[in-house]
Amino acid sequence: MARVKGGVSSRLGRMLEELQEGIEDGLVPAWIFNDPELFELEKEKIFSRSWVYLAHESEIPNPGDYVLRYVLNNPYIVVRGEDGVVRALLDMCRHRGMRVCRAELGNASHFRCPFHGWTYRNDGRLIGVPAEREAFGPGFNKAEWGLCPIPRLEVFDGMIFGNLDPEAPGLEEWLGEIRWYLELVTKRSPAGLEVLGPPQRWVVHTDWKLALETFLSDSYHTLMTHRSLIELGIAPKDAKYAMYGEQIHIPGKGHGSMVVGAPPGAKLPPFWGYPEEMLERARTSYPTREQFETARETRILLVTLFPNFSFHNPIRKPDHKYQGTVPMLTFRVWHPLGPGRIEIFSWALVEKDAPEWFKEKTRHSYLRFFGSSGTFEQDDTEIWSHVAHNAATAQGRELRLNYRMGLELEPDPNWPGPGVAYGLNFTDANMRNFHRRYLEMLLS
Ligand code: FES
Ligand SMILES: [Fe+2]
Repeated sequence: MARVKGGVSSRLGRMLEELQEGIEDGLVPAWIFNDPELFELEKEKIFSRSWVYLAHESEIPNPGDYVLRYVLNNPYIVVRGEDGVVRALLDMCRHRGMRVCRAELGNASHFRCPFHGWTYRNDGRLIGVPAEREAFGPGFNKAEWGLCPIPRLEVFDGMIFGNLDPEAPGLEEWLGEIRWYLELVTKRSPAGLEVLGPPQRWVVHTDWKLALETFLSDSYHTLMTHRSLIELGIAPKDAKYAMYGEQIHIPGKGHGSMVVGAPPGAKLPPFWGYPEEMLERARTSYPTREQFETARETRILLVTLFPNFSFHNPIRKPDHKYQGTVPMLTFRVWHPLGPGRIEIFSWALVEKDAPEWFKEKTRHSYLRFFGSSGTFEQDDTEIWSHVAHNAATAQGRELRLNYRMGLELEPDPNWPGPGVAYGLNFTDANMRNFHRRYLEMLLS
């Protein structure tokens, strides 16, 4: 790995060296979870060069549909033009820089700037300039003054990603082998996914990496953080339920997945408890047989993409009266707002061709456990905020935290999917892999 070099202050340089020295040994200094100077470097080296999740195509199914989304503090109108093409246009008027879109979502054929009235079509072209001739003369060329698109935009199975770096590798290369795990969800049905409404959003006083690591590798926290849910009989009886299965990371990419199966001796509905008709569709919809077989035995699936996107697909009980369980799927973006502060964007999704009763149950399941009112979610966010607080204290920030779980584990040679897999989820392997990639980007 490259050594720390120019471009960072000597203070930050020393700190990064400390992280670099500790990582293979499973030691991570607490300050990385709340430091203003490090946050500035993350903005420049990570979020300005990474593929960041913006929206799902099903949020903007019709011409003119749009949602406002953000990469760092850059606002983008993610909009489907009359030509059906999805674009992400910087929400900044080319005249004096005002926002031209005042709502978080909607449908519009054009956007009119409230400052002096320049008007843009929903494909970004400038089409109206008040008093054009008098103000700008005959030589004014509107074609040169359209809204700026995000430098890069690509779509993978309905998932829209943007990148601020025009030189960035393509999305497919960026994803690499994690694609196999993403497809366990995106290819479950030939109809694809749809969102169940706009995302829930809320601000948490924590670091984006802390939130992310819970979804990337921290099965271990369910024992304690969600203990009350186990005691209430809402979470599975075996408190170690999230331990059983595989933890997989993609070396060099920072991505990871957890594929959780049944505890020994437990009988669980196959294929997350989806209705039989969906199991039938999945049989032919998955690109490979291995993916279908893996999906069939899975009870909880998590996938995290470097740097700040995760999804979570567990089986849950939608309400206390319902006899069975249903799966639910949430996508989330851990959107960085500042040092020690994030905004969570949380969507519920479902297969487009799922039966209506199932869509309703899966929505209940989501609301009950995740999202701003979800029980699991509230357990988690309360904890994350205290860790970030301590990470900024004078003595606490110097502590090295323990990321040594599973250091001695050997990879599972029988796992049918790509990446490096361990046959146990009680390991920090995915986090150590994430931090290697994180450091590599900070230092390059
Ligand atoms: S700033 Fe938009 S028209 Fe002037
Ligand atoms: Fe949790």
